[in-house]
Amino acid sequence: MRQSSLVVVANRLPLDDNAAPDGACEWRRSPGGLASALHAILEQTPATWVGWAGGIGPAPQLSDIGGLRLRPVSLSAAELRGYYEGFANSTLWPLYHDAVQQPVFDRGWWETYRIVNRRFAEAAAEVAEHGAAVWVQDYHLQLVPQMLRDLRPDLLIGFFMHVPFPPPELYMQLPRRVELLRGMLGADLVGFQRPQAAHNVAQLAQKLLGAHATDDVITVDGRTVHTGAFPVSIDVAEMRALSSSPDVLSQAKQLRHDLGQPKRVLLSVDRLDYTKGIEHRLTAYSELLRDGHVKVRDTVMVQVAVPSREQVDSYQDLRDRIESEVGRINGEFGRVGEPAIHYLNQPFARSQLAALYQTADVMVVTPLRDGMNLVAKEFVAAREDGGGALVLSEFAGAAAELEQAFLVNPHDVDGLKETLLHAMSAEPADLSARMTAMREHLVGHDILAWARAYLTALDHTGRLAERLPDT
Ligand code: ADP
Ligand code: F6P
Repeated sequence: MRQSSLVVVANRLPLDDNAAPDGACEWRRSPGGLASALHAILEQTPATWVGWAGGIGPAPQLSDIGGLRLRPVSLSAAELRGYYEGFANSTLWPLYHDAVQQPVFDRGWWETYRIVNRRFAEAAAEVAEHGAAVWVQDYHLQLVPQMLRDLRPDLLIGFFMHVPFPPPELYMQLPRRVELLRGMLGADLVGFQRPQAAHNVAQLAQKLLGAHATDDVITVDGRTVHTGAFPVSIDVAEMRALSSSPDVLSQAKQLRHDLGQPKRVLLSVDRLDYTKGIEHRLTAYSELLRDGHVKVRDTVMVQVAVPSREQVDSYQDLRDRIESEVGRINGEFGRVGEPAIHYLNQPFARSQLAALYQTADVMVVTPLRDGMNLVAKEFVAAREDGGGALVLSEFAGAAAELEQAFLVNPHDVDGLKETLLHAMSAEPADLSARMTAMREHLVGHDILAWARAYLTALDHTGRLAERLPDT
């Protein structure tokens, strides 16, 4: 078994199991923030990525991608249900997102979550060199840091939570709250998107573990665990280059033509997830149409909603509700050849996403709660022209950085309508000033800056960060 000095452990490998019938593998830019973020840095970094390759049954043999080795972890059908669809995405996901959907507490799922976390920990222990750094990602693998420490005390262990970490009053609902907290605090450094999350963990560590805890350092079981905020970002250079390419610019022109050359295009791009606020947004848009503030021929809305977690009941129900509402709105307000909403339930290539971002006059990103939201950052990076307005939920982590967006509370449908109208009628000079300020921020805070900041805080020396690509 070949071993690495840097190991990343995440639920998913960044490739499609269908993409490699002959064993050769290709990057799939899977529609999800974690894979988007890590893909950008690891493609060029000598490391091993431990993760699930999608599908069930024995793990496939996968070739290296550049310097990156892939170590697949297998899941059976029952494990996929109990660990991924169950405990991770029906218990932790809704609870960590303000319980915008009722979390399901099914006692049968816990044991499977534990078993699968153990398998990931064992796989990481197997591929890590003596003294290696292992960087564990997200809520699917919250038990892995402590399991790994027990197996391999020589390792430097990092954990990063891509999603929000809830306030104590919500976290306390979790039947396995102590084990989950202890598991995560097995790391040397626990990173979050926002400082509030580190504060929440400190409070919980005091309350549940009797630990001495501040917002930066927790002392537990005689060990020191550092915590902190490291807001994740995107490959700004990639998105800028894509968006200024002649091919993307001509795709964008064609898109606008295909949409009927409207005065304004409103765009949303989300995984089809109840945290993304798609239903609230549709209500707001439908009322703007009803009240005559927006006219179908002048304005077009494009909603990209890529399928996600389709075996989970709440996601199936959401899809049914959204598709019925889009049908109602188009039936009521559309005309022949002129739908009010273009609804696209499909994955897109990066270049197609860049063309869509170029086409948008108003980008509407209104999650009810989101750890970061990389779509908002991608839109800003794509708009070198300084055009376009970003309407952004206050409840997305990105709102703390993209302060010049048109910030909105998506729960307040009247406020959302007003903000949409405000963004639609803003002066070009105002839009350009806002976009310039946001772009400047992003250039200094891209995905490499994120990884450097995290890895430097993990090893305190900067040696890990030196392995990352220069640009
Ligand atoms: P989340 O992690 O909850 O999915 P983010 O907004 O942080 O949300 O990340 C979503 C990522 O998925 C972005 O990089 C975005 O470009 C990508 N994405 C979203 N929709 C699609 C789609 N239809 N096809 C391909 N990629 C998509
Ligand atoms: O960002 C949160 C997250 O769960 C990531 O871990 C993942 O990349 C993304 O959402 C997409 O979800 P899934 O892996 O369930 O398709």
